[in-house]
Amino acid sequence: MSDIDLDFTIAQLGECRIQSPMSGVRFTRDSERVLYHARLEEIRIWIEKRADPPAMEAAGPREKIFFEPSQLACGIVTCGGLCPGLNDVIRSIVLSLYHLYGVKKVYGFRYGYEGLVSTYGHKPIELTPDGVNRIHEIGGSVLGASRGPQDPVDMVKTLEDLKVGILFAIGGDGTLRGALKIADEAAKRGLKISVIGIPKTIDNDVSFVQKTFGFETAVTEARRATYAANTEAEAARNGIGLVKFMGRESGYIAAYSVLVDSQVNFCLVPEVPFTLERFLAELQQRLERRSHAVIVVAEGAGQDLMAKSAERDASGNVKFGDIGIFLRDAIKDHFKKKGVEISLKYIDPSYTIRSVPADAHDSAFCLLLGQNAVHAGMSGRTGMVVGFWNHQFTHVPISLATSARKKIDPAGALWSSVLASTGQPADMR
Ligand code: F6P
Repeated sequence: MSDIDLDFTIAQLGECRIQSPMSGVRFTRDSERVLYHARLEEIRIWIEKRADPPAMEAAGPREKIFFEPSQLACGIVTCGGLCPGLNDVIRSIVLSLYHLYGVKKVYGFRYGYEGLVSTYGHKPIELTPDGVNRIHEIGGSVLGASRGPQDPVDMVKTLEDLKVGILFAIGGDGTLRGALKIADEAAKRGLKISVIGIPKTIDNDVSFVQKTFGFETAVTEARRATYAANTEAEAARNGIGLVKFMGRESGYIAAYSVLVDSQVNFCLVPEVPFTLERFLAELQQRLERRSHAVIVVAEGAGQDLMAKSAERDASGNVKFGDIGIFLRDAIKDHFKKKGVEISLKYIDPSYTIRSVPADAHDSAFCLLLGQNAVHAGMSGRTGMVVGFWNHQFTHVPISLATSARKKIDPAGALWSSVLASTGQPADMR
């Protein structure tokens, strides 16, 4: 999609006629915009045309709102894999609805979209400020989560039966697509139901959102693994530390783990193909030079090197081969054939780094995401996610957020910094 075609228009359920009960705050005007581009040269073409460059709606409380708070019920659902900060976001939504707007009825749907389908029999929980008071101190999701889509007709029926006016859907790509289907189905049936997404993915791969919550916590935790890998590798002659992180199609955790711990010598991500021969040759040279090496690999890297599987998970993702185990065995095999004795330690902290509570910075980030999601819902916006762009909270149409996965640009600044830190060749094909 070219920048010229970007359409950041947010759907709206109707006119905002009700005065917000909030006072003493700075209200955001509907006309406020956050620039999509951050560099002058990128917006030059619009300046020359005397037109507005692409920009997103700024998030924040509106002076006039769409829903009458005293009559409103809301729902929250968490879907997909875990991520640090899920409970912080749930808590922030409940507290914001209650304290900022006076909304008293908030349902927590259990186990992802299953909780919105009556035949599963998962009864929704009523979420109150007291009930969510300390949930941010623990990892996971107090609501539980699940993968996979459900029929929007069934889900909208549940929302209608419970008279839910705003549904907050916390999840990644698949969840957000599901959220849009709920919004479309509600609109088709003439129901005034707002659906607001809060993007959640440990892989940090949602488009038009610079950073998703929990990512920073995960990278912080990742450091324990790279630290251990390096310590083990340095303590052995021809020591190799190999660490596998999550990252199906985007290797952000792996890439940032390199920047956090610059002891890493090789970073392998899905966005940058490599051959086994070339990688092993480079690794061998590194051992000859320095007697130890640390490798981080994202789960989606090097999938072309392994047998493909036709199996899919409940989200519809192709089941990947285990690149960590594959590399571990290939490295051992290679050096055995060369008659070189190595000491390889393999660490797979995938689930460890996503099940922890959010760190301080992520907690604050989650609080603000939750508040802004509530402001957006109360103003009758729908089919959108709360984003973070150029250090500001924004509204992004779900259609754009799910249009493609955000990936590391192998020609961009992040990857260039990773290469500068590891010292690995730019091309290992
Ligand atoms: O949601 C994306 C992700 O973090 C991927 O990186 C990983 O493949 C997946 O979740 C694993 O989650 P689960 O094992 O819970 O399906």
